[in-house]
Amino acid sequence: MPLLELDGLSRRFGGVLAVDRVSMRVAEGEVRAVIGPNGAGKSTLFNLITGVLAPSAGEVSFDGKRITGLPAHRISQLGIARTFQVTALYPEMTALENARLAAQAREKGRWRPLGGGATLREAAERGESALARLGLGALAGRPAGLLSHGDQRLLEVAMALAQDPRLLLLDEPTQGLSVEETAQAVETLAGLFAAGGVTVLLVEHDMEVVFRLAERVTVLHRGAVIADGTPAAVQAHAEVQRAYLGGFS
Ligand SMILES: Nc1ncnc2c1ncn2[C@@H]1O[C@H](COP(=O)(O)OP(=O)(O)OP(=O)(O)O)[C@@H](O)[C@H]1O
Ligand SMILES: [Mg+2]
Repeated sequence: MPLLELDGLSRRFGGVLAVDRVSMRVAEGEVRAVIGPNGAGKSTLFNLITGVLAPSAGEVSFDGKRITGLPAHRISQLGIARTFQVTALYPEMTALENARLAAQAREKGRWRPLGGGATLREAAERGESALARLGLGALAGRPAGLLSHGDQRLLEVAMALAQDPRLLLLDEPTQGLSVEETAQAVETLAGLFAAGGVTVLLVEHDMEVVFRLAERVTVLHRGAVIADGTPAAVQAHAEVQRAYLGGFS
């Protein structure tokens, strides 16, 4: 059984079919990239999976259960965590405080018969461990706004990981980074994925990054899946090359 299954998922905005009958299965432990030109529907797809947006048609199943139409906080409690395309953290708070808050966010609303004390302590531990997994342990006490742009993007991944997700959705984790920062972030993420235990859906523009990180790639073009396979197979695909020429950056 796949961990995540999308079946005919669609979303319309007025006259624009932003996501067009997307079907996809992601196995537990897989690192899958979703690529496509600007406006292909990648972020909208993430918003449909995480319950930020309701689909116009189709179904989302997670761990064998239909989650279509559930509110975002319920889906997050079920174990899907995400980062956003645009940096989203509290700049005045330290890296650890950001990670701890993210860990607590998932705890909210969970049934806790023994009260909140254990929950707070667990959240702190999960925040610290997530920072360590992203190589940010030494920066835990630093205000997030004073971290380098690359470390801020990694902190966002740590914040998602601190929620102890079964599925991690990363929306362009290297967007806006310099060549050096991208290389460093990619190596850190490769190490995290190689350590196992997490299933990843990754939106990425940079094919080199996709090659380094993903086992399998799904290509979106105008909302629809036009190719699906290994990075090498997908890159050789004629329609994908046309889509690239038509606007991949
Ligand atoms: N809230 C919205 N209201 C109206 N149209 C939207 C909305 N969100 C996205 N769209 C449209 O849906 C289409 C897909 O947008 P989306 O942001 O999902 O693309 P993307 O693949 O993430 O692009 P990028 O690579 O630029 O991040 C675009 O035509 C966009 O203008
Ligand atoms: Mg996007």
